[in-house]
Amino acid sequence: MQIAIDGPASAGKSTIAKILANDLDYVYVDTGAMYRAVTLAALKAEIDPNDEQAVDDLLPQVEIDFKPGTPAQLVFLNGQEVTEAIRSDEVARNVSAVASYAAVRTAMTDLQRKIADNNGVVMDGRDIGTTVLPQAEVKIFLIASVKERAERRYKENQAKGIDTTTTLAELTEAIEHRDYLDSHREISPLKKADDAVELDTTGLSIDEVVERAKSIIAERA
Ligand code: C5P
Repeated sequence: MQIAIDGPASAGKSTIAKILANDLDYVYVDTGAMYRAVTLAALKAEIDPNDEQAVDDLLPQVEIDFKPGTPAQLVFLNGQEVTEAIRSDEVARNVSAVASYAAVRTAMTDLQRKIADNNGVVMDGRDIGTTVLPQAEVKIFLIASVKERAERRYKENQAKGIDTTTTLAELTEAIEHRDYLDSHREISPLKKADDAVELDTTGLSIDEVVERAKSIIAERA
């Protein structure tokens, strides 16, 4: 079975997808991490992320791998572990530009489909239900108010002890800006698939969201 979880930034997609994958014994595929890894590769190579041709030219030299790890899956870029590095502000600021390029999307979509061909997957992203796995048996579009999404991210940053200089207002603006870019790009924009079930997580606990997701899976499977 294929389970697609899409939605805007910081809606809790990866938290829910990881729990579902673990409970169902499926492979969790974090497609945002792939676009982030390409963005990091460009930054490391001192390529301007807004230079589409330069990013395209870099693609053949970008190899992305995932390996199991606790608490999170480990992400590797050309053999080097980048699990934390892809979460930086600089990557977040530039990832929407990189993810808008046709060649980048084709390469990442191919990789994502290859993983789904060989495994039961819970895949999260922006275009999984619409483009990557249009035949997925279960499609969930996870949303939450921008206020709550920013607050969750703020608390998460504080708990991790990272980036305490970013204010809640700045986080809110960054999330809104990224959502705008992701929903307005030409290729595979962030969009609810017609046959996806929308799940609003505003005011819900993680357990409550998991429970609702499981009942959607039970109905659709
Ligand atoms: O999910 P996450 O916030 O890590 O995604 C980072 C960025 O990667 C998104 O803002 C979007 O620009 C891009 N992305 C995408 N398509 C996906 C997953 C992520 O364009 N399927």
